[in-house]
Amino acid sequence: MMSGVRIFLAGAGLMGTDIAYIFAHKGFRVVLYDISPDSLARARERHLYLSRNVDMVSPELIDNIVYTTDINDSRGAEFVFEAVVEDLKVKRRLFSDLERILDRDILFATNTSSYTVSELASQLDDPGRLVAMHFSNPPIDMKLVEVVGSSYTVDEALDSIIEYSRLIGKEPIVLDKDCRGFVLNRLIYTAFVVALYQLDRGVRPESIDAGVKGLGVPYGVVEGMDLIGLDVVKRILDNLFEAYGDIYRYPANILDDMISRGKLGKKAGVGFYRWESGSAVITEAEPADPTPYLAVVVNEAFRVVEDGVADKARVDKVYRLGVGAPAGLFELADLFGLDNLRDILNAMYSETGHRVFKWSGPD
Ligand code: NAI
Repeated sequence: MMSGVRIFLAGAGLMGTDIAYIFAHKGFRVVLYDISPDSLARARERHLYLSRNVDMVSPELIDNIVYTTDINDSRGAEFVFEAVVEDLKVKRRLFSDLERILDRDILFATNTSSYTVSELASQLDDPGRLVAMHFSNPPIDMKLVEVVGSSYTVDEALDSIIEYSRLIGKEPIVLDKDCRGFVLNRLIYTAFVVALYQLDRGVRPESIDAGVKGLGVPYGVVEGMDLIGLDVVKRILDNLFEAYGDIYRYPANILDDMISRGKLGKKAGVGFYRWESGSAVITEAEPADPTPYLAVVVNEAFRVVEDGVADKARVDKVYRLGVGAPAGLFELADLFGLDNLRDILNAMYSETGHRVFKWSGPD
């Protein structure tokens, strides 16, 4: 049993805050570190809120969490988890600073969305200890943790991350190959690309989301971008574009404009929607046709399988557990008819020439 283990968790933003709570709730001792005292103060406030109102557990739970801006408080940690800003230089710097402080056998995990484990590990003195442990948002609700190592990763490190994931009540899905975006983000960001083009053409967010929610998912596509944070969405789209090219080309103007005005989504209280008490305020609207969204995500699922990242069964599981969908993508594709989805994409590809619509499933 590993609870009681001391975890050094770096990054008290949207994800790190809730992940710290998840670990503390399961009896781990958490040292939550951030360079921003404001982030730490907000994290503490949220932990108090969660422990008093949501879980009805005693507020003493947060005695399991220490809040710090001093990286030297990592001393004594048995496990490091990072959820700092999605910036390669920042993450590399953090890990190399930690390597100077901590012993060689301390396990490192990353919540990165759009860098490979290799990119982060290659700079380490001991690259074998780093594993991706990628949560889905909101981390308290979503069961998914994508787990993958790089070519350096040692088996014991991977096994420990699988065990930690299970101990905190998550379902680890182990991937076969390290790649940018792993499975979940490669899938959902194709839908974000389509949404940004539709928004650019004047389609209303409410229409897109009303259509997509007809597929049974708890969050709409535009609502999902707000939930993640538009600054984070932009970084991830840019990193996926760098790795996979034109599939992830998107009209940048909308995101740039909203980010420059501080409309970052849920965490700012406003993005595409206004957010109140943790939920987006979404007015009723005529649902837009959701099949192009389903079609691009299914299409990317074929590419993910083709690239050897995971088999169809695991891709389906990642999708179900990561977005809270009632069925897997390949199951949905059968339901809607693969021929239909292919015809829709072929028509959209002829019309737009955008690579996101280029069919990559079976003929
Ligand atoms: P965020 O922007 O809410 O928080 C990032 C935090 O990192 C901030 O509190 C910032 O002060 C802190 N930070 C920056 N530099 C630091 C440093 N050198 N040392 C310590 N802390 C530092 O970001 P968010 O959304 O929580 O994302 C964090 C990580 O989790 C990223 O790698 C992101 O890709 C990943 N992720 C994000 C998801 C989302 O839906 N937002 C979902 C799954 C993964």
